[in-house]
Amino acid sequence: MKTISEVVSEKPWVGWALFGGTLLVVFLFGLFGASIVERRQEAFITQHVAPLPDWEPRNEVWGQNYPRQWERYRRTARTDFQSKYAGSTHIDYLERYPKLVVMWAGYAFSRDYNQGRGHYHAVNDTRATLRTGVPQPGTCWTCKSTDVPRLMNELGVAEFYSKTWQELGEEVVNHIGCQDCHDPKTMNLRITRPALVEAFQRQGKNITDATHQEMRSLVCAQCHVEYYFRKGDNYLIFPWDEGLGAEDMEKYFDGIGHVDWVHSISRAPMLKAQHPDYELFLTGVHAQRGVSCSDCHMPYRSEGGVKFTDHHLVSPLNNIAASCQVCHRESEETLRRDVISRQDRISELRYLAEDATTKAHIEAGAAWEAGAGEAEMKEILQLIRHSQWRWDYVAASNGMGFHSPQESARLLGSAIQKAGEARLKLSRVLHGLGVTDPVPMPDLSTKEDAQRFIGLDMEALRASKEEFMDTVVPQWERSARERAETGTRPALQQTSGESDY
Ligand code: HEC
Ligand code: HEC
Ligand code: HEC
Ligand code: HEC
Repeated sequence: MKTISEVVSEKPWVGWALFGGTLLVVFLFGLFGASIVERRQEAFITQHVAPLPDWEPRNEVWGQNYPRQWERYRRTARTDFQSKYAGSTHIDYLERYPKLVVMWAGYAFSRDYNQGRGHYHAVNDTRATLRTGVPQPGTCWTCKSTDVPRLMNELGVAEFYSKTWQELGEEVVNHIGCQDCHDPKTMNLRITRPALVEAFQRQGKNITDATHQEMRSLVCAQCHVEYYFRKGDNYLIFPWDEGLGAEDMEKYFDGIGHVDWVHSISRAPMLKAQHPDYELFLTGVHAQRGVSCSDCHMPYRSEGGVKFTDHHLVSPLNNIAASCQVCHRESEETLRRDVISRQDRISELRYLAEDATTKAHIEAGAAWEAGAGEAEMKEILQLIRHSQWRWDYVAASNGMGFHSPQESARLLGSAIQKAGEARLKLSRVLHGLGVTDPVPMPDLSTKEDAQRFIGLDMEALRASKEEFMDTVVPQWERSARERAETGTRPALQQTSGESDY
């Protein structure tokens, strides 16, 4: 048999054919490889079906470019997951904890307070709650919608905060979404809410120095934090100048004399905690080990060989395998039990704090009625203020203390102690005024009992809300649609539909 080189020396064209054939094979392999790489890239970043302008508020437009993330994100519309203490279903907190009505007497939270359902519902739930109405600061919209960065850019930040809720109603129609956390050009995580940037600045820190892992929590800290509206101009501020702990913020609020409302029974100058999720989380072991919000609430997911970030933001108990088992080897059942058992303990303490603080309010009311003087009540009212603040710091935080069980327990213990001290002092004041029998406590077994006790006219409140939903809201939506049709502004998505996804 002839060797290849013998054949080639007899018939040179065979050599050229072999050479050409090899070239062709290499070329085809190259093409094939490139097409694989391209598809991968397509799947990840270069799916720019439509280039994204700077302040695009519509999630479905971003979603054309990033269908995987959008398909998961819009599941925040779902309201079908319930765990023992949390989830995405509708939970009426005042029904579950009727004493809250008395703790918030004189404040809108006593009318209506529900468990958050999910990002998709942010705009609608804000419209529908009995806490909102007119007049109401526009600042309330800040953490509800992708229209907010757009409007802040158009109007200026201070001007945005100075508008009323009603004035901005027709502009704010897209629920929380892509733009709030992402740069449209690079898809890098970014901060769009100035209050967080400013809070960092006042501490001499630059938020752009944050690491990638820190950003995976800081995007949430734009909204899942404690905040207040400055008196006068409703400027949104995070009270972090003395530190991020509950006592640090209490000190800050005391220092500037901030009062959210005066309690209608005890006349205590009260603070309302919003939802210091990020701050409480920082005191827990997960934060201390460098775990981020996104590690548990936005775990990785694989579909068709593509790994991406699961944008279905929900209770991690909905998907323990992806959320926890990446780091923990225990079974799903063990991990679930770990969560619930920590929450059960916090819940028990929470009830004790609620009970003690509610009684302190009612006994302070009795002391005023018996003729107590401002001077002897001052210290007592401060104890009530501090007790309820510490309770609320935990109670208003999402997740029933799981993010930091020890700190939550410590704060609730301190709330119980302060309410107890207030009650001891109150019994002395009452005694001095000749009231020697225990102050009778009302029946607070249901939300209705409690609302009747504090004198709320719920029917009137519901009727006026209904009218608002039937008249004003459709007007807002009409005018948003018109703006979209004239094309002068990005077409706006309507979010009034219930769970479409
Ligand atoms: C170690 C995992 C972990 C980390 C990190 C974490 N969470 Fe959670 N989160 C949980 C668990 C567990 C719950 C309780 C869920 C339940 O009870 O159904 C929860 C509950 C919540 C809830 C309420 C969910 C619901 O269904 O009502 C919100 C909101 C939340 N977390 C936000 C955050 C934010 C913001 C951060 C970061 C600042 C964060 N979480 C960090 C595990 C985590
Ligand atoms: C609450 C904040 C938040 C919102 C809202 C949000 N994302 Fe993300 N997104 C993240 C985080 C966190 C990551 C992980 C980034 C990282 O670790 O680099 C991410 C990653 C991504 C990535 C990179 C690929 C991947 O999956 O990791 C894309 C693309 C993306 N998001 C698209 C979207 C789209 C589209 C929307 C709106 C439908 C959206 N995101 C809404 C926080 C958010
Ligand atoms: C622009 C403000 C904003 C940002 C940014 C944001 N959230 Fe939220 N989040 C909200 C609001 C408002 C709600 C309540 C919406 C409702 O139910 O009406 C909410 C609800 C939730 C819920 C459901 C809560 C419940 O009680 O069931 C979870 C879980 C959650 N957020 C987690 C996160 C995590 C994790 C991040 C960061 C990756 C994040 N959010 C970023 C404003 C925000
Ligand atoms: C990114 C990694 C990571 C993820 C995700 C994670 N953990 Fe952890 N977890 C840790 C680390 C690290 C510790 C600290 C343990 C240590 O250092 O020994 C810890 C500690 C704990 C502890 C004991 C501390 C305490 O606070 O009581 C529990 C319980 C726990 N994790 C449950 C969970 C659950 C439930 C989830 C899912 C919702 C989860 N973890 C998700 C890394 C993680």
